Amino acid sequence: MARITSLRAEHRQQSHGIGSTAPRLSWIVAGAAPGDVQIGYEIEARGEVIAVEGTDSNLVAWPFAHLTSREVVAVRVRARLRSGEATDWSDELELEAGLLKRSDWAVDWVTPSTSAPAEGVRGTYLARATFTVDAPVVRARVYASAHGIYALEVNGIAPTDELLAPGWTSYGHRVRYQTYDVTPQLTAGQNAIGVELSDGWYRGRIGFHGGVWDNYGTDLAILLQLELTTADGTVTRVPLEHSWRWLPGPATASLYDGEAFDARLVPRGWSAGGYDDSAWQTPAIVPFDSFAADLVAPTGPPVRVTEVLRPVSVEKRENGRYRLDFGQNIAGLLRIRVSAPAGHTVTLHHAEVLENGELATRPLRGAPSVDSYTASGDGVEQWSPRFTVHGFRYAEVENWPAELGEGDVEAVVIHSDMQRSGWFQSSHPGLNRLHENVLWSMRDNFVDLPTDCPQRDERLGWTGDIQVFAPTAAFLYSSTGVLQSWLRDVAAEQKASGSVPNFVPWIECGFPSDASAAWGDAAVIVPWTIYERLGDVGILETQYESMKAWVDQITALARPNGLWSDGFQLGDWLDPAAPPESPGDSKTDKYLVSSAYQAHSTRLFAKAAAVLGKTVDAEHYAKLAQRTLVAFRDEYVTATGRVVSDTVTALALCLVFDLLPEQSMRDRAGKRLVELVAEGDYRIQTGFVGTPLVCDALAAVGAIDEAYHLLLQDQLPSWLYPVSMGATTIWERWDSMLPNGEVNPGEMTSFNHYALGAVADFMHRVVAGLAPAAPGYARVVFAPKPGGGLSSAEAAHDTPYGRASSAWSRDGDRFTLTVEVPTGATGVIRLPSGEPDIEVTSGTHTVDCDYRSIDRDPARPVRWNPHENQNNEKVA
Ligand code: BGC
Repeated sequence: MARITSLRAEHRQQSHGIGSTAPRLSWIVAGAAPGDVQIGYEIEARGEVIAVEGTDSNLVAWPFAHLTSREVVAVRVRARLRSGEATDWSDELELEAGLLKRSDWAVDWVTPSTSAPAEGVRGTYLARATFTVDAPVVRARVYASAHGIYALEVNGIAPTDELLAPGWTSYGHRVRYQTYDVTPQLTAGQNAIGVELSDGWYRGRIGFHGGVWDNYGTDLAILLQLELTTADGTVTRVPLEHSWRWLPGPATASLYDGEAFDARLVPRGWSAGGYDDSAWQTPAIVPFDSFAADLVAPTGPPVRVTEVLRPVSVEKRENGRYRLDFGQNIAGLLRIRVSAPAGHTVTLHHAEVLENGELATRPLRGAPSVDSYTASGDGVEQWSPRFTVHGFRYAEVENWPAELGEGDVEAVVIHSDMQRSGWFQSSHPGLNRLHENVLWSMRDNFVDLPTDCPQRDERLGWTGDIQVFAPTAAFLYSSTGVLQSWLRDVAAEQKASGSVPNFVPWIECGFPSDASAAWGDAAVIVPWTIYERLGDVGILETQYESMKAWVDQITALARPNGLWSDGFQLGDWLDPAAPPESPGDSKTDKYLVSSAYQAHSTRLFAKAAAVLGKTVDAEHYAKLAQRTLVAFRDEYVTATGRVVSDTVTALALCLVFDLLPEQSMRDRAGKRLVELVAEGDYRIQTGFVGTPLVCDALAAVGAIDEAYHLLLQDQLPSWLYPVSMGATTIWERWDSMLPNGEVNPGEMTSFNHYALGAVADFMHRVVAGLAPAAPGYARVVFAPKPGGGLSSAEAAHDTPYGRASSAWSRDGDRFTLTVEVPTGATGVIRLPSGEPDIEVTSGTHTVDCDYRSIDRDPARPVRWNPHENQNNEKVA
């Protein structure tokens, strides 16, 4: 029986506090007969039913009058199918609008701290306000934001498990607010709201090279509007302005340093009614309008604890500390349960790896990542910091008051709580662990915004990293909401010239502010990727001016030869041949990289304009792209197809970005690429730019065996070398840890950077054979390319239409492929035997063929150290 599932609005998982007046709706038609398809649907809301003919079910335009602020609307959908079958009405999706207009805010900022204290780790603040409830309340909402990060309590209870709110945006332009349902926390009579505030990203120290202090302002402030709805539907704003009081908080905290919490300093009952706050101070009130930034509703999910890990080993050290290994490198915190006399302090140290038997803290640079808890002496106390986050696998617990017991210390994993949407498995344990590592590096680096790394004094929205990783991110998790927000910040921080900062939000901490290719190109490529993978045309509309400004900027930066070929460039960053202290000194000409990206982005932008029906732009930029291509060839490609530079990255760019016009040139470039890869003994010779492309480039020229050989290499530098060293995340450098166990001496050595994990997209599309052939996977191409000695591989993805999957196995010369196409999509199967394409409709299909393996050199066995991490067991 066909039915509607997964009715959702925009890319959000929760529907209250939505910021759009016309949220687009999506749903899945599940359980339909194979090949059947929706031909019409009805949407009902506010007692109105709108019937539409058509197959659309992804991001369908809101068909009703626009939502107004606070409006609650129940929406449901039913569909008619071509077979004549009709679904029932779906479950209702209750949508609740947030505060959609600036004028909906009728409160001012409340600030317990108007000027920044001396530089150093700073104290938190407690603020409280009281109010009386004298009529039954059917709905109570807190709309809140902050300068700094805040934790909210109502009558002593946190109404949310959200952490690090309001998250990090380009605060000068956009600050997010949260909408909380606090109905269950209210009681008749006196009530109180309590807020603890900390520096977070707004104030304090952020950035590398010593960082920048008080980047956005010197105040900490809370903006909080409480509204109660009574049974007759009346909404009243509760006036809190005269009741706010504050005190210094019980903690000092910063994102990089860590949190020191003294439980003795928590005033008992401080966030509940009936508490005497006469000794508290009156905060300054700063007019709402003195901050010009837009207040915006979140488009992505909140940051929260998504998993709890127990240590896989605990060791008592000679110095009395306990060393804990959680078996997995994470972004997160420790959670302790301790019983200790009042005033006893336990200190928690964190590191990603060990070096010479000790926590390797040097890679953390200016982010000490040390927390401490001072006990109140009140029985068993449970605590986890709330105003910091660390990147770690190992921890040391200092001054534990007794023997450390099972469950006394756990690690909580923290990130934007996105829904998992992609899976990969194969017969190769090393490849599976590599994929698992990519997944973890994504989780660890989607802590509210897409970052480079979660551990050192950086954790910044580096544009180049997400530019290369976006396709993988779009596959593995429903990450669009997080990226939508970040892309708004990209647009907000673009200079008038269209130049894009190298990381967003931008901080002036001494890094060149000139744009770089492959980094700034995120402005075009990330929205395009979301369009391609999610079928979201709206993101092209919203980002259009930003995309265009970037293309205009790189056009303006071009020299008379039409190419962007001078000035600052990060180039093929972290090419393994570059010296550790000079990661931008790649073998590949950095201006070839910038020129190739110039052609690529210009072409993508022309396509985006065409998708939006902007024909004048589409034509103009298509011509511009063509001119850039010609200029690129004139400068970098000989008439017979030799490429200057003669490097793997240069050739991969030419092949994957389709920069070579003639088949003969492509053949020549392909042949040379294969030679170079072989000459390099199938070890990595590429940096951030070439690495995401090299396997695709080899596959594109039919060198699939070589692609596997490179992918499965485990000698340094290679993707599987870190796996063989027990890595549980993707490293920033191929040799972040040297074979002798020492940490790379470079001052920039992280064990958790997703950029080089962008190869997972190749594993999904080419190894397993699941790729979009039309935006949003409305058409799927199943073209697995077996090799590398693999006997099976499979991938599954929750597309906007439902689950699509591709699973193949080999038995001798027999190759069998089973694919799943969701209702509303079609597929094409391209067997490795080269037989004609097979068209498929929705449903499950199994096909097989004779396929003689060309694996010239089957996978080498990967060295394992099974004691290194718990997850080895899962996949071995
Ligand atoms: C970051 C990178 C980034 C690079 C560019 C590094 O410090 O961690 O991932 O893309 O700088 O300069």
